[in-house]
Amino acid sequence: MKIALTGIKPTGIPHIGNYLGAIKPALKLAETCEARYFIADYHALNACKDPDQIRSMTLEIAAAWLACGLDPQKVLFYRQSLVPQTHELLTMLLAFTPKGLMNRAHAYKAMLQANSQANRDPDDGVNMGLFTYPVLMAADILLFDTDLVPVGNDQFQHVEMAVDIAQSFNHIYAKECFRLPQPIATEHSRTLPGLDGRKMSKSYGNTVPIFAPEKQLRKLLMRIITNSQGVEEPKDPETCTIFSLYRNFATDEQVETLRQRYLAGGMGWGHAKQELFEVMNTVLSPLRERYEELMANPKTITDALEEGSAKARELAQKKIAFLREIIGMD
Ligand code: ADP
Ligand code: TRP
Repeated sequence: MKIALTGIKPTGIPHIGNYLGAIKPALKLAETCEARYFIADYHALNACKDPDQIRSMTLEIAAAWLACGLDPQKVLFYRQSLVPQTHELLTMLLAFTPKGLMNRAHAYKAMLQANSQANRDPDDGVNMGLFTYPVLMAADILLFDTDLVPVGNDQFQHVEMAVDIAQSFNHIYAKECFRLPQPIATEHSRTLPGLDGRKMSKSYGNTVPIFAPEKQLRKLLMRIITNSQGVEEPKDPETCTIFSLYRNFATDEQVETLRQRYLAGGMGWGHAKQELFEVMNTVLSPLRERYEELMANPKTITDALEEGSAKARELAQKKIAFLREIIGMD
């Protein structure tokens, strides 16, 4: 069975774009793979130095995955910071990582460019954690003999860098010390639009949180921006934000019925939004309930993470012992 691994950055409560584009596909993959999904808290430290925020975001994102259906008995679910072997591997890998490779990383290059546009020193605000981010990510991946890495397209370059570093290590010791991982796109085939019709994204402030309480969910959906067509006019489902969201939550039959109502005319936007609210609320209600239950009992969340992390440490320790022998530090 192939091993699938991915890191989840603790960056607040996820929205339905994350649910459909990352969480759901990763959980689907876990049905056919040996899955290892972890909270990448050390990756968050580069940008966030508020301990309370790190703590609460870690808890919230772990609760989100559990509420969406991650079964910690089937998926190895752990916290990166509870697997210190990651850092030993990071130190090993740094010796095999050309600085030039890091210079080419998109995230770092974007920072340099933003600084140059703002007439600041090119390295302003760039810490070494950010600069070496792809090596820590390579350590996360290579420590667990990963075959597949389900990620968004923006992370492909990082996985390719992990392959480069692993190949260099394997080549030097003339041995297949590391399995070569392959990134696989989790992105939804259609990008989910947000309330304003642009891609749903935290950075645009146009998101619908997965666990929004019923009232807030309804209020948010009523805010979807539509054109000014009147009730009687036939409408085009293909270019409509309401319809794009609807098709992700309704049954095929419901989608077809709504499509016909769009084409026939006689349905106002308020009505379409109400239909959308109903299907979304049906799908999201049980997730919201589980999420609230988990957040009311945070110990169930931390226990699951601690149990998973203990198992992860055992696996990681074996790999580190093997590597120490390879490099002559046994
Ligand atoms: P945001 O754009 O809100 O900052 P992230 O970049 O943290 O979201 O997204 C994490 C993952 O969630 C992405 O790699 C992608 O797989 C998925 N995702 C985010 N937004 C969408 C969207 N609008 N449609 C489909 N998938 C999305
Ligand atoms: N860098 C990833 C992101 O920003 C998170 C991550 C950390 C990750 N380590 C990983 C993803 C290992 C896959 C594998 O989303």
